[in-house]
Amino acid sequence: MQHLYIHIPFCESKCNYCAFTSLSKKYEKEYFKALMKDLKFYFRFLNIKKQSIKTLFIGGGTPSIVDAKFYEEIFKFLNCFLNDKCEITSEANPNSSNEFWLKEMKNFGVNRLSFGAQSFNEKKLKFLGRNHGQKSIYDSINNAFKLGFKNINLDLIYDTKLDDKKMLNYEISHLKSIKNLIKHISAYNISIEKNTAFANKEHFKKNAYLLMKYFINSIKELGFKQYEISNFGKICKHNLAYWQGKEYLACGLSSVSFYKKQRFYTHKTLKEYIQNPIFRSVEKLDDKSLNLEHLFLGLRSVVGINSNKISQEQREKAFFLSRAKKLVYNERKKKFFNPNYLLSDELALFLQE
Ligand SMILES: C[S@@+](CC[C@H](N)C(=O)[O-])C[C@H]1O[C@@H](n2cnc3c(N)ncnc32)[C@H](O)[C@@H]1O
Ligand code: SF4
Repeated sequence: MQHLYIHIPFCESKCNYCAFTSLSKKYEKEYFKALMKDLKFYFRFLNIKKQSIKTLFIGGGTPSIVDAKFYEEIFKFLNCFLNDKCEITSEANPNSSNEFWLKEMKNFGVNRLSFGAQSFNEKKLKFLGRNHGQKSIYDSINNAFKLGFKNINLDLIYDTKLDDKKMLNYEISHLKSIKNLIKHISAYNISIEKNTAFANKEHFKKNAYLLMKYFINSIKELGFKQYEISNFGKICKHNLAYWQGKEYLACGLSSVSFYKKQRFYTHKTLKEYIQNPIFRSVEKLDDKSLNLEHLFLGLRSVVGINSNKISQEQREKAFFLSRAKKLVYNERKKKFFNPNYLLSDELALFLQE
């Protein structure tokens, strides 16, 4: 096992679009105690070797609203398992990642930060239900950079009903002004999720294909190479491992691990998780679902589709698509690559039928 995910389910407030587990941090002490049990149990159970973890991702929720001291015990335990070159990412919100928190996390070994900016526009930030303004985005990036973080990502959301060409140009002009401080951009096409303030408001998403393409091309023109439908710049090794179908251990509330062709789900309520953090429900993935996943993930990213991992019929269809210039076949790698990630779902559906 080389990849570890840790989930921090607490947030200061709930954003209008977000369906991730986000709770008030009333029970953080109990949560971290349970999290330690979870980690210790599975490291022993899976016989994880020293120095073997190559990527660690602390995601949320909002990892930065939890005092740095809570991470101390986690890193003390993990230290010997983390490879010297381990990519250690923490997500952080602009308004809670103060200098002290950033400094402490850096001392623990965090070497990649992912800030949820979402937008530089005050009106769009309000519309999305964010509890920070543009200034906090600049402050947090500048602070992190000054403290020596050289691998910084920014999350943005686009294709909302407010995203016309003027808005997207506004986002791009701000990205341009900080492009030397960041290494990566995640630009997410908004999805309207159930059980959020945006649920049933399908018109809040524009579905404007040409504007999507325009935004993606503008990000690329800033020098951030696209390597996945939503990701640009220096490849995040942790996410790459997901897309390559590698095994990973995930600890924490509502987290999902992948091991020996099975998914393992932790409890979904805080109370249950705190009572029994090592509980996992199991979902066995059959060959058909693994094949589908390989198609969808491969077509959305630089990973591509391995011609040995698909059926004869799918291979024939993939060659048909490469003759039609919708896919590119690399003979040496025996892989099909998708030159336009925006078409990935359509292509995957065509191949799977
Ligand atoms: C799980 S969140 C955690 C990050 C952090 N809490 C924050 O909000 O800054 C990771 C990212 O997912 C993206 N995201 C969450 N819900 C989304 C949605 N419905 N549509 C598109 N992107 C979404 C946001 O860009 C967010 O920064
Ligand atoms: S987007 Fe981030 S801050 Fe907002 S509710 Fe979701 S996890 Fe919490």
